[in-house]
Amino acid sequence: MSTVPSVSAARTARLVGDLGATRPAYRGLADALRLAVADGRIAVGTRLPSERDLTTHLGVSRTTVTRAYDVLRELGYLTSRQGSGSVATLPDGARRRGTGGLFPADVADDVLDLTCAATRAPAGVLEAYERALERLPSYLCGAGYLTYGVPELREAVADRYTARGLPTSPDDVLVTSGAVAGLAVVVRALLRPGERVVVEDPSYPNTLDALRGAGARLRGLPVDPTGWDVDEAVRAVATAGARAAVLIPDFHNPTGALLDDEDRARLGRALAAAGTVPVVDETIVEIDLEGGAMPLPFAAHAPTAVSIGSSSKSHWGGLRTGWVRAPRGALRSLVEARVTSDLGAPVLEQLVLVELMRRSPGVTTERRDAIVAARDALAAGLREHLPEASFRVPRGGLSLWCELPADLPSSSLAATAEDEGLLVAAGPRFALDGGLDRWLRLPHVLPPETMGEAAARLGRAAERVRGGRTGRARPGRPLVA
Ligand SMILES: Cc1ncc(COP(=O)(O)O)c(C=O)c1O
Repeated sequence: MSTVPSVSAARTARLVGDLGATRPAYRGLADALRLAVADGRIAVGTRLPSERDLTTHLGVSRTTVTRAYDVLRELGYLTSRQGSGSVATLPDGARRRGTGGLFPADVADDVLDLTCAATRAPAGVLEAYERALERLPSYLCGAGYLTYGVPELREAVADRYTARGLPTSPDDVLVTSGAVAGLAVVVRALLRPGERVVVEDPSYPNTLDALRGAGARLRGLPVDPTGWDVDEAVRAVATAGARAAVLIPDFHNPTGALLDDEDRARLGRALAAAGTVPVVDETIVEIDLEGGAMPLPFAAHAPTAVSIGSSSKSHWGGLRTGWVRAPRGALRSLVEARVTSDLGAPVLEQLVLVELMRRSPGVTTERRDAIVAARDALAAGLREHLPEASFRVPRGGLSLWCELPADLPSSSLAATAEDEGLLVAAGPRFALDGGLDRWLRLPHVLPPETMGEAAARLGRAAERVRGGRTGRARPGRPLVA
């Protein structure tokens, strides 16, 4: 039996969508498949369906599929191997560009990277490192393996939860190397392969990947910029028989939606009744751009909830420091899961975060003003350069989730924008099961004037897509934030 992962004909047909009036049809099909491979919806190394199966599912002629596969082979997006069928690949040049971290070496300085919803370090981080260094010696006489975390940081995190309305003891807090690492620990402790997990659709791609990687069977709860369909969510939870529900109720990524207290309580009750553990990613909770009362932490409505937090958005991603808050007595099983992959987060960064949280547990006013200015510049730039995109400006978070007109698929726009010197993540990256090509996530994380320039580049890319001068699709890089 072949060990090559494969994508079913049904899923491929969904990813391709409606070929409509595209002529010739094989071109349209080749383009759609190329974009799906390029933006990661069909992972490199995946076997595509046989020509016969895809022909049946798409309801097109066999020649259309054969010719589309031929085009993909010529472009380097498909390789046929004896015994493995036709496997998705990337052209050599594209593969080089597709690897690497946040700012790959071969991306020129003038390329604007909006793939990630993360800002540069705000003022004060360097000073916090200096102060933390002064305090480091008291830890140097120990082994430095603080598997639960530096006590002062556990205390600062617990105090922050208590101040937000969720009484918490430092004993309930485990420090991790960021929220993604925290989720990995929770997933390892909680889930067995094949168990069902409820998750928002769309959601943060790295969360979806982590859950898929753990063998979870995912069931989506629809969310859009107006929020959750809570009636539907309650119904889905009642019938899903899910082990866990991974939720982002605070400035949801990518929509920016915020779940209010009443709906938290309703959803919390539904999850409790179904025996489903809420796993709540609060990474973005501190990016409240308007002020005023925030809803209580989800765990205040759902005592069995496991909450995951991070300093990446509130302070700086480079600290690589986050945490998990578990219900009383539940931390031990998380620690046991954690030590299979790491024995603790770095001490210095934890001390830096203690310093930063002492000054401001959430974002500083200065930082909030900078994020608002960037957001307003992006919104103004879009109204000028891409007026057909519609979006709501959410109360918080770091992105606008933009709806595009039907003739401007976000996969094509993202691929073409790259040729204009702008990297963005197309909607399908956030989708549970394909689709969302009418949506584009635009983080407002660069200075205001740069956000205006990004909107202008997007406008130029849109003109090219409409004029049929689409860019050479390049692979979606791993989405990290
Ligand atoms: C919902 C969500 N979770 C986790 C992360 C990444 O968190 P960390 O950098 O702490 O691993 C992000 C970054 O954008 C995010 O939006």
